[in-house]
Amino acid sequence: MTEHRFRHTLGRSWRLFRAFGHEQSDPDRFYGPLADDSVRQVQHYEPLDGRLLLDVGGGPGYFAEAFRAAGARYIGVEADHGELAGRGTSMEDMVIGSGLQLPFADETFDISYSSNVLEHVPEPWTMADEMVRVTRRGGLVVIAYTLWWGPWGGHETAPWHFLGGHRARRRYARKHGHDPKNVFGESLFAVTVHSGLRWLHRDADLVDVQAFPRYLPRWMHWLVRVPVVRELATWNLVLVGRRR
Ligand SMILES: C[S@@+](CC[C@H](N)C(=O)[O-])C[C@H]1O[C@@H](n2cnc3c(N)ncnc32)[C@H](O)[C@@H]1O
Repeated sequence: MTEHRFRHTLGRSWRLFRAFGHEQSDPDRFYGPLADDSVRQVQHYEPLDGRLLLDVGGGPGYFAEAFRAAGARYIGVEADHGELAGRGTSMEDMVIGSGLQLPFADETFDISYSSNVLEHVPEPWTMADEMVRVTRRGGLVVIAYTLWWGPWGGHETAPWHFLGGHRARRRYARKHGHDPKNVFGESLFAVTVHSGLRWLHRDADLVDVQAFPRYLPRWMHWLVRVPVVRELATWNLVLVGRRR
């Protein structure tokens, strides 16, 4: 079923890492390439042309544009209207709702996708279950999320989150005079490799499951098999499975 072979090369990791340096100052330079890269990652498992794809927490349109350009019939679910309005994204086929209770019938989509949202919801594995529920039998589920114990786990409060999320939040507020955008305990939560693998392997509705570091080259994929080290070094984990 593989249409495009996705290559996790060192050069690709380096390009993403360099682009990440512009995330705040010039978001287009990071999120555009990240969305294109993510589309290719999904195409490795499933051709996109004509497929009905749900993107949970798609954000301000980069992923919508990239998935549509690849031929997918894209539906986005966003909790925050402001995120959609940010880049003047077309609201067409965008639904305001929560990944924790997806407003769709069972087995609706060919592909359910989510990038960097799971760490922003209080019940990440409820959201993951919801994504499986709305995926048709034989369809694909792909969930990527930022790991709490990774270098970027605390988002703008990193690396102080290593001393505790609440402490990092207080430190940020003292320094900047306002809370960070991602507030620990409210819109940022500690999600681990361990919990992701436990969910993936216990979910009776998924087969052909895989888990790997999103940004790292293939020769580093062994990391996810090493407890403790994987939490610190994986950065971002991708969970893939096919609906039984
Ligand atoms: C870090 S952004 C990720 C955006 C995009 N997916 C990406 O990878 O660049 C997290 C997004 O998740 C959305 N979000 C947070 N909680 C959500 C929920 N319960 N349901 C759906 N979306 C949610 C936020 O509004 C935000 O747009």
